[in-house]
Amino acid sequence: MGLLDGRVAIVTGAGSGIGRAAAVALAKEGAAIFATDIDQTGLKQTYDMIISDDGRIETMLQDVTDEALWDTVIAQTEAKLGKPSILVNNAGIAVGGPIPDFSLDDWKKQMAVNVDSVFLGTRAAIRAMKDTGGSIINLSSVAGLRGAAGLSAYCASKGAVRLFTKSAAVECARAGMGIRVNSVHPGIIDTPIWQKSIVEGMPVEMMAGGANAVDPEMLGAAASPMGRPGHPSEVADMIVYLASDKSSYVNGQELVVDGAMTAGG
Ligand SMILES: NC(=O)c1ccc[n+]([C@@H]2O[C@H](COP(=O)([O-])OP(=O)(O)OC[C@H]3O[C@@H](n4cnc5c(N)ncnc54)[C@H](O)[C@@H]3O)[C@@H](O)[C@H]2O)c1
Repeated sequence: MGLLDGRVAIVTGAGSGIGRAAAVALAKEGAAIFATDIDQTGLKQTYDMIISDDGRIETMLQDVTDEALWDTVIAQTEAKLGKPSILVNNAGIAVGGPIPDFSLDDWKKQMAVNVDSVFLGTRAAIRAMKDTGGSIINLSSVAGLRGAAGLSAYCASKGAVRLFTKSAAVECARAGMGIRVNSVHPGIIDTPIWQKSIVEGMPVEMMAGGANAVDPEMLGAAASPMGRPGHPSEVADMIVYLASDKSSYVNGQELVVDGAMTAGG
């Protein structure tokens, strides 16, 4: 018996990193997974991992910023797997760079992928789950809790996800929909987005060994009191908890998974 037997979960950005780990972990607990991404190759790898573990998964190419595609995602999920009761709004990008050099196009791109998508996904999920209930889990970041030099647009996007999540939680709860909405705030997790953000504009406070140091292990170790970056599966475990009834009274909260990075100096 799994914690999520009989449930259907939609996971965006499931072709890599935290999204893939979440899809695998939710499937291990018995959920049928509707996995989406813009990366066909990554999605196929996630598909193979879950199938080889006797899990159930369907995939669809989805750009999370495309409004019309969200209706297709819900319709395809219901047709192929059944009514969804879990949505993990995970897809995201990190566009770094100093503010004076930052283009409006890059700002809008950052907001579209990290914020518009969370609004569109949450709206679609509420419409689909309003009579049956569910759990919506939005990926924010420690960058949604505090600022970071060189990552202003990313921090702004993740801060928006944090407060949008709380507003959605209160709105759904007051309407008696039985839908919980929470945000997850990872610290430094060793995935491609983290490695890319090092190159594009690493927060000064996280720098170890000078501006040329780009070893993720070393930077992760320097930034976390636990002396190492987190593993995607360690964030996935939090996502499973929030998806399950074990968190039935956890709502509108920001769950931090950062190895004590934001706990103190
Ligand atoms: N890795 C970290 O250190 C870290 C820390 C805090 C928060 N996060 C957040 O966790 C989430 C997952 O990050 P990750 O580290 O696994 O990154 P990742 O780069 O490994 O995976 C992100 C996935 O999102 C997909 N994606 C990007 N743009 C998309 C779009 N427009 N439509 C659909 N899919 C798209 C990518 O193809 C990729 O598969 C992101 O929201 C990220 O901001 C990551």
